[in-house]
Amino acid sequence: MADDLDDVTDDETSESSEALIAVHWREEGYYPPPAKFVAQANASDPAIREQFTEDKFPDCFTAYADLLTWFKPWDTVLDTSNAPFWKWFVGGELNASYNCVDRHLADKANKAALIWVPEPESEAHQAITYRELYVRVNEFAAVLKELGLKAGDRITFHMPMIPELPVAMLAAARLGIIHSQVFAGFSGTAAGHRIADSGSTVLVTVDGYYRSGDLLDHKVKADEAVEAAAKEGQQVDKVLVFRRYPGRYSAKTPMVEGRDVFVDDLLAAHKGEIVEPVALKATDPLFLMYTSGTTGRPKGCQHSVGGYMSYVAGTSKYYQDIHPDDTYWCMADIGWITGHSYIVYGPLSLGTTSVIYEGTPNYPDPARPWRVAKQLGVNIFHTSPTSIRMLRKVGPDEPAKYDYHFKHMTTVGEPIEPEVWRWYYQTVGKGEAVIVDTWWQTETGGFLGSTLPAIDPMKPGSCGPMALGIYATILDEDANEVPAGSGKAGNICIRNPWPGVFQTIWGQPERFVSTYYAKYNKDPKSTDWHDWPYFAGDGAVQAADGYFRILGRVDDVINVAGHRLGTKELESAALTVPEIAEAAAVPVVDDIRGRVVEMYVSLKPGLDPSPEIEAKVRDAIVTDIGKIARPKNIWIVPDMPKTRSGKIMRRVIAATSNFADTGDITTLANPEVVEKIREQVQTAKRAKGEAPRELSETELHEIKSFGAE
Ligand code: WTA
Repeated sequence: MADDLDDVTDDETSESSEALIAVHWREEGYYPPPAKFVAQANASDPAIREQFTEDKFPDCFTAYADLLTWFKPWDTVLDTSNAPFWKWFVGGELNASYNCVDRHLADKANKAALIWVPEPESEAHQAITYRELYVRVNEFAAVLKELGLKAGDRITFHMPMIPELPVAMLAAARLGIIHSQVFAGFSGTAAGHRIADSGSTVLVTVDGYYRSGDLLDHKVKADEAVEAAAKEGQQVDKVLVFRRYPGRYSAKTPMVEGRDVFVDDLLAAHKGEIVEPVALKATDPLFLMYTSGTTGRPKGCQHSVGGYMSYVAGTSKYYQDIHPDDTYWCMADIGWITGHSYIVYGPLSLGTTSVIYEGTPNYPDPARPWRVAKQLGVNIFHTSPTSIRMLRKVGPDEPAKYDYHFKHMTTVGEPIEPEVWRWYYQTVGKGEAVIVDTWWQTETGGFLGSTLPAIDPMKPGSCGPMALGIYATILDEDANEVPAGSGKAGNICIRNPWPGVFQTIWGQPERFVSTYYAKYNKDPKSTDWHDWPYFAGDGAVQAADGYFRILGRVDDVINVAGHRLGTKELESAALTVPEIAEAAAVPVVDDIRGRVVEMYVSLKPGLDPSPEIEAKVRDAIVTDIGKIARPKNIWIVPDMPKTRSGKIMRRVIAATSNFADTGDITTLANPEVVEKIREQVQTAKRAKGEAPRELSETELHEIKSFGAE
């Protein structure tokens, strides 16, 4: 056990790099996996690791590819000739829809593929068997085909958690149409930017869905999306509108003649139609998933059919421990990568039953998840630290009242505080369930860091070692390795390619290379993968036992409730307000959501601060991005702290918002403004009851280095 951090000196001020901060952390104790879990696990023999050691790379990953059904086997496992655009399973042909649906008909036709739980408890659960899923996917594929869509075209979905979403994804995948699902909570404008970026001509949406007891009008966002896309020169020809209640329109927004069509009407003409799955190349794209980065333009992460499907099938089997007879419930939203990989493609490829819940976890009360778990016999449960913190706060004793039994639980998306972890383990899992803390990203397709649940002991707050076949290293700014057990943090990098890694950023190949690979590459011409470490953009520290603890982003990205928001996106939204001259977004530590956004703005000359301007900024952000980005506070300040070259020092205002030490400000062009801002912001915060809060080492690390890149 790594308890030997005492000799680490606190000399971060003398370090050249903000990333290389010494991180003191009380080492947590280990928890062994419960014996009952181990006895039934898919991976219970530690020898599995030997099959994935570096000398067996890349062939080791054929074990994952072999979990799928291929129409044509591959010739080359990994082609590195166009580094770092890695190609996996070259020559192979397959179809994701076939793997998630058709191939299960032989022995699982009458087994539930999906169980949909509507938010209103008065509405019954809907079980959709593999046979029914097959019928629905084929019929919707027939609709897409009729519209003239074909392999390689893009289609955008802006859909909530209803079964029509996985149906639509699998129908697109069947034809090789590249889908781009935008989180339903994002605004219409945000969907429009993504439609334009991907070049989609068809948008699929729904009239309405339930959220916290309200049937929201979602169709209105389609109109905003089409308009926003048109502004960027992308015309949407068709908007396909599912109806939450088929035959009955639940939105107030009118349908647009000639453009908007009800899907239930279209489906009527394709009853029982079968559309053969297209044999796609392993390297063909399956979908785009947009995520935020350090510029305003979102990044469409392009995932492949063969590599991605292999990786999510393999990790679902060994890390989620999915067996066909499990009832698996991931509470994430399918609009994020977690839902793509670990609600739809991974679990369905293994032929299990995947639960989809429409609403908010605490509706109508904080016992809802535990009631659902009991009613459906859920035995694998998957959620985020934000949901765990929230359920713990509002219903700490609820799980004990319900007779459900999890064998396995996941946490994903943000670092989890050890005390929150322990509540998850003891109260939600009742001490019977193993926990995996899975570290990964939209870009990585599947888990990178996690314990193997039956083999590795758990350690609260650490994701554990790297996953099978993933060789990580922590590098400082000069590319020196930061040794395990040194107590120092650095940039976590993956030294090797893996099948789930994204292929490129849609339409921005240079950005793909510069953001993820250029930092530590010494020879841009090299075709040897050893020369191309993948830069994840997270700070991390490795304990002497080899376990990794992820500290959070080292770039200008704010992780709100496990969802990435780029500061540039937030700032450009604020700058659409005519009164605003400058804007800066910073993270504030929050007990429930991990981080929330605070905005600092300065006004154009001659204007005075007012609540109206604040409201305009707030509205602009909600309209442009969505409610998830709504700032906690907007501070109208006389000036921003800046470097002599004019760059806004975000770490200084981030520290101010978090009542933390602002650090060295002698290099600023206007150091005097720092005290003024602190006075203004902290006085106002105290008046609102936002008391100073002690920050953990992880939190301090992020705040002090925010925007340092
Ligand atoms: C963070 C979500 C700590 C990290 C799958 C990463 C985590 C970003 C963890 C990716 C974890 C994800 N512990 N931090 N277990 N999982 N993160 O693209 O900063 O939405 O870079 O993918 O979330 O977020 P994304």
